[in-house]
Amino acid sequence: MARIRLATIGTSAIVRTFLQAAADVPEIAVTTAFSRDPQRAVRFAAEAGIPHTSSDLPALLASGDIDAVYVASPNAIHFEQARSALDAGVHVLLEKPATPTAAEFETLVSTAREHSAVVLEAMRSAYDPAIAAVSDLVREVGPVRRASLGMCQRSARYDLVLAGETVNIFDPALAGGALYDLGVYCISAMVQLFGEPDRAVGASAPIATGADGAGAALAAYPEFVVDLSYSKITASDRPNEIQGELGTLTFDSVARPRWAELALLDGSRARHELAGPDNNMVFEVRRFAELVAGDRDASADHARALATLRVVDALRAHDARRL
Ligand SMILES: NC(=O)c1ccc[n+]([C@@H]2O[C@H](COP(=O)([O-])OP(=O)(O)OC[C@H]3O[C@@H](n4cnc5c(N)ncnc54)[C@H](OP(=O)(O)O)[C@@H]3O)[C@@H](O)[C@H]2O)c1
Repeated sequence: MARIRLATIGTSAIVRTFLQAAADVPEIAVTTAFSRDPQRAVRFAAEAGIPHTSSDLPALLASGDIDAVYVASPNAIHFEQARSALDAGVHVLLEKPATPTAAEFETLVSTAREHSAVVLEAMRSAYDPAIAAVSDLVREVGPVRRASLGMCQRSARYDLVLAGETVNIFDPALAGGALYDLGVYCISAMVQLFGEPDRAVGASAPIATGADGAGAALAAYPEFVVDLSYSKITASDRPNEIQGELGTLTFDSVARPRWAELALLDGSRARHELAGPDNNMVFEVRRFAELVAGDRDASADHARALATLRVVDALRAHDARRL
């Protein structure tokens, strides 16, 4: 079968990580590097060994030269770029969060359907078998009653904010900030482990750019509660914890779990090493290739992404800071 000819959109570090993952997926051939700046496109393509470049997105999408795009632009740009690709019948792998709101992603899903194209959110944790392993272990703790999930990583780019700059990742106009960047990993893992909550409320810590630098949220399920914490301006290595009536499961990361530990109330303890590749983007790239190659039913993928984005919507609407 012919390989999927793919163009990358964006020239930042995450595109290099994507290229490394795509190199392990034989169905994908990265043929074009897109940048808004033609010289940057040429430089990036030369370094990455990509044969073609473009700095004219409408022309590239209309050219018939590509079958798919990987969109790694700032979050607020995703929707327009993805919609124009899908309108041209080009498949889209869309960095997380797929769009800033659930309504926008719903529009992309229906646009994809109209054009028999695939749109997939590149939420790397969602396709990592290690999260499925954590999910299996959750059964051991009995009825879940509370859980704490978190991702707090101080960004080096916060130093630029402290120096008075507005950098993209902290720019509210580009849907930057901690909730969109890291909170979504906690929410996506929560949705994957427990399904969509009945309600979610939150509060955030603002920074000079007007974005949220850190935040906390509570999600209510019929029988249990989950608290979420996320930050781009402070750091934590506190593990995640799922408490059930028979014991507690801890695990290290919502984005790339490496270990999980069960401590049951009967005194038994077990540590599980969750081996996996350093670059767990490979799993989402494989899923994308599978969808494009024939299995066009992405309804479960879309349902998870939409549930995650509805929680994001709820947290933005009910941020206690704004009450
Ligand atoms: N999966 C992961 O682990 C992971 C990690 C990091 C980031 N991400 C996601 O990847 C995406 C990009 O994040 P990032 O931090 O790399 O963003 P970024 O550096 O701010 O921008 C990414 C690229 O988009 C282009 N760009 C920058 N500003 C733009 C604008 N105003 N309008 C249109 N294009 C613009 C630039 O490429 P050109 O100037 O060359 O066109 C740039 O290389 C986000 O959705 C983020 O959430 C995912």
